[in-house]
Amino acid sequence: MKPLASIPSAMPRSGIREVMELAAEMVDVIHLEVGEPDVNTPDQIIDGACAAAKAGWTKYTSNAGYPSLRAAIVRKLATENGLTASADQVVVTAGAVGALATGVLAVIDPGDEVLVPDPGWPNYTSITLVAGGRPVVYPLRRDDGYLPDLAALRSLVTTRTKLLVINSPANPTGAVFPEPVVRALVEFAQEHDLYVLSDEVYEALVFEGEHVPAARFDRDGRVITVFGCSKTYAMTGWRLGYGVASPPIAELMAKLQEPLVSCASSVSQKAAEVALAMDQAPVRAMRDAYRARRDLVVAALGPRLASVPAGALYALVDVSEAGRDSYAVVRSLLAEARVATAPGETFGASGAGIVRISIATSPDLLAEGCRRIVAFLDRQATHPGAGLDRAAGR
Ligand SMILES: Cc1ncc(COP(=O)(O)O)c(C=O)c1O
Repeated sequence: MKPLASIPSAMPRSGIREVMELAAEMVDVIHLEVGEPDVNTPDQIIDGACAAAKAGWTKYTSNAGYPSLRAAIVRKLATENGLTASADQVVVTAGAVGALATGVLAVIDPGDEVLVPDPGWPNYTSITLVAGGRPVVYPLRRDDGYLPDLAALRSLVTTRTKLLVINSPANPTGAVFPEPVVRALVEFAQEHDLYVLSDEVYEALVFEGEHVPAARFDRDGRVITVFGCSKTYAMTGWRLGYGVASPPIAELMAKLQEPLVSCASSVSQKAAEVALAMDQAPVRAMRDAYRARRDLVVAALGPRLASVPAGALYALVDVSEAGRDSYAVVRSLLAEARVATAPGETFGASGAGIVRISIATSPDLLAEGCRRIVAFLDRQATHPGAGLDRAAGR
């Protein structure tokens, strides 16, 4: 038989999924590997979705989503984000991933280069590859508080560079880009005639500072912003996100939904309408609960944290005393300390010597997980290499 397609065959697997599968076969494991809210979707949203399904909102919708939801999103953009947009700039998608994928597909041609952060969410790379593009990583350095360095970015721009991907609040670093940084990034894109894909799915999870939407500085319609319900409303399984872009880009994104998913789920769209319309107190309560967990992690891990996360759902832990191969350290942490973490290198080469933990776990489990990590690292310090799963490779 002819070989299967080369792009998906060569695409790297997410290191997080690998750990999940290993951990699933073990008992007494504390799960800190996945970035998923540990609470259920607020009742009001679930009740609204059930009522909508009973009332017959169970059919295909237009590619770009229900007009009523897009209108609700336009209102949210104005009140929460300070952005003026019209409904024809909004595309409702199957998760934020759907908006990221259609956003990339709408602007790049095969062979175009896409600047993606390192460390950064691995899907930026896989989406670029699926679109036939070439991911080019730009560094986010720990010493810079994981903020982008314009000089480093500038040195990577070529005639094929088409798109800059930015993410704040950031996964996995927890960095929240201050306004001057966001403004400078959009100006950099203007200077080099690049599109910007701004992933802002963690907009509601900011512990210090404020979330600054990149589109605020967009003078000529080059910023595609991606938001979602997964993290804001604990709705990961509903698969509901949305993109906001200039009308020509939004039109292409909506068109691209046709061969991919046709449209986002009708019931989830109705749920999102309830979520956007309801009093946002549950969202603030979730954010405050995550902030308390972040504080717990900071107290428990202290200097072993690579930085103090100002937002999102994660903390990076410096495990370099146990080794640079983060995959090996993750396997040892799992086997010896029974804590599942995500290998830093799944987020890019700069993740060597680092693992990511999710703070979206109950405080008791999070405290016990941190205690186990510290005990493991203490053992490494006194008996270097003890128990390290060095032989197993990746
Ligand atoms: C940075 C980032 N963007 C997007 C997503 C995907 O969100 P959704 O569930 O809405 O597809 C995630 C999920 O973990 C994420 O971490």
